[in-house]
Amino acid sequence: MSTTGLRDRALLERARRVLPGITQTYSKAPDQHVQGVYPVYLERGDGCRVWDMDGREYIDYPCALGPVLLGYRDPDVDAAVREQVDRGASFSLGHPLEVEVAELLVGLIPCAEMVRFVKTGSEATSAAVRLGRASTRRDHVAMCGYHGWHEWCVGHTARNAGVPQAVRELTHQWSYNDVDSLRRVFDEHPEQVGVVIMEPVGVEEPQAGFLAAVRDLAHERGAVLIFDEVITGFRMAPGGAQELYGVVPDLAAVGKGMANGYPLSAVVGRSDLMELVTAATYVSGTFAGDAVALAAARATLEKLRREPVCEHLWRQGAAVRDGFNRLAAAHGVPARMVGLPPRRVMELTPQGGVEPNVLKGLIWQGCIDRGVLLGNANFISFAHDDEVVARTLVVFDEALGETGRAYQAGRVAEALRGIPPGEVSRRP
Ligand SMILES: Cc1ncc(COP(=O)(O)O)c(C=O)c1O
Repeated sequence: MSTTGLRDRALLERARRVLPGITQTYSKAPDQHVQGVYPVYLERGDGCRVWDMDGREYIDYPCALGPVLLGYRDPDVDAAVREQVDRGASFSLGHPLEVEVAELLVGLIPCAEMVRFVKTGSEATSAAVRLGRASTRRDHVAMCGYHGWHEWCVGHTARNAGVPQAVRELTHQWSYNDVDSLRRVFDEHPEQVGVVIMEPVGVEEPQAGFLAAVRDLAHERGAVLIFDEVITGFRMAPGGAQELYGVVPDLAAVGKGMANGYPLSAVVGRSDLMELVTAATYVSGTFAGDAVALAAARATLEKLRREPVCEHLWRQGAAVRDGFNRLAAAHGVPARMVGLPPRRVMELTPQGGVEPNVLKGLIWQGCIDRGVLLGNANFISFAHDDEVVARTLVVFDEALGETGRAYQAGRVAEALRGIPPGEVSRRP
């Protein structure tokens, strides 16, 4: 039975004094997990496993919120990184790897004719929005999900203090799988919407014809279509969800999995739009050409081309998702894993006044006690082999059995030893 270890707790106390929110990403914060049961810190990783500060080992499914595509410490990526560290990280002029990695991306991603590197997913989506606005000379943005922390994106969320009112008024929400809701945004702001940005697939799958209808509507109304493939890129298919669904946007933002955990992202797309980077506007970063991250990206992308990485993610992700769903049903736990196999979340539908997050917390507690770390978004890596998936299903069986007994006895809250995970408060 796991409770937070001594070293972990001591560090958390120090963190409370110097780090607002404790972690640097909302999704990694203690209140997103079972507080008092989950560790707050992970010290190292290897393959599909991670270790906390007190030496406990877990099979890891959040995969660092998506970046770990091949597994922690992938030997090919690490060798490339070591070699580059010996040559230097940042230089006074451009570095050859910028060209090489850009060529790899152009070869992989259907919409990519040119590439501009940045560092984070938020920067990549923001750069794409900047280019879309620059090309259409229109300020308004139609969006339908989370695309990062920058002003255009968080302006209309509950946490928009610090975002000028004038900026908040330029972004409009529409609903996934609802083309009419996008049409309404265009109708309500005629000739003003220059950019439509969306994740091509999130947890919900696109209905037949939906993505093509969005593309056609955006173009008909004179807007640029951006796919945010920060999560879906390199996971749903080597060329991202645009390859999977055969709908090609004007621009795309990629990040997360591109360098297997090293910080690198990019905006990619049509040359005429990409050329605006220097012709009309400004997207520039001191660290954007960081050769260590670029070396990691080259090794990651080459492996993606060489090995059946995405097939593996689909097969093992399906085994985890379907196995969980079968066992939850067998133990009478109203929980399901939903989403495409490479990226899954847990959906809870308890009855009788049981809070969904409390039930979720009890399932997660049962899993972490037995060495499986789950989070709000669960991925899978090339390092999750058959043996690991089989072990995961044994853990699910035991954790769901325990949860089912507590649920049927009406004592879910009593069985939870910590504070249940809160809602993911960063989503718009
Ligand atoms: C779909 C999507 N776009 C953009 C981002 C922002 O990426 P980053 O956190 O690297 O800035 C995220 C982060 O989770 C994301 O899920």
